Amino acid sequence: MRKKNIYTKQKPGEFSQKKAGRIPALSPISVHDYLREIGKKWKGLGYAMELGSWFGATAVPLLEGLVAAEYTLPFYSWDRWKANDEQVTRAAEFGVKIVKNQDLKPLFEENVNKVYDQIVSIKGDIVKNLKWTQGPIEICIFDAPKLPEVFGPCIERLTPHFIPGVTIFGLLDYYFWERHHKGGADKTHKLRVPDRFINYHRESFTLLKHWRNKCSCAFFRYEGGAVWEDMDKWLM
Ligand SMILES: C[S@@+](CC[C@H](N)C(=O)[O-])C[C@H]1O[C@@H](n2cnc3c(N)ncnc32)[C@H](O)[C@@H]1O
Repeated sequence: MRKKNIYTKQKPGEFSQKKAGRIPALSPISVHDYLREIGKKWKGLGYAMELGSWFGATAVPLLEGLVAAEYTLPFYSWDRWKANDEQVTRAAEFGVKIVKNQDLKPLFEENVNKVYDQIVSIKGDIVKNLKWTQGPIEICIFDAPKLPEVFGPCIERLTPHFIPGVTIFGLLDYYFWERHHKGGADKTHKLRVPDRFINYHRESFTLLKHWRNKCSCAFFRYEGGAVWEDMDKWLM
């Protein structure tokens, strides 16, 4: 049976002229435009980072905005950068040929280095690799952590460095649980962990923008509070 493409209405492998020449993306252009705007509003108070960058389709517009705002710090990115079947299919839709298990880090770096030269790209499993002691975080994009076993440790290690009233927290898989129809109620419950996290801490986050009818992405501003505590209340 053919796998259903959950990101677009396009059939797997179908090549769209609209995608030709673009960086293969798993998110829509409207979100990329918003990321560029966020970058342009960088206040000079902390680092920008992305967890789950793939080819850089979201990192690049964010960096374009950051460069316009005269961002001077390293930009941090974490990913496995190891192509799976679904990614091979998705890249082909953009006219980019990759093979299963290909190391995608060089392709990511080629894309982001055209925009900014201080990129720290950390390859491998995020939970194993993620440590943060560098300083305050002003922009934090999650596009990999969506299951409790990844989302929980990322929240625990990063949110203590968020800046009250400032940090922009992009959850690109926030509504994924509504769009993903495999795995039954247990999988849906697991995928809903970003929603449980935000709702449990609704005093600590302001919703800035979402595209609920179009994609899974939502952006919040962190307002303050020890959101890294009480994990047992929302994680599972
Ligand atoms: C949805 S894609 C990111 C797409 C990109 N932000 C975009 O919009 O085009 C999610 C990425 O997260 C990575 N990822 C998922 N879980 C991971 C984990 N536990 N450790 C490292 N990377 C992970 C995958 O390799 C994949 O490249």
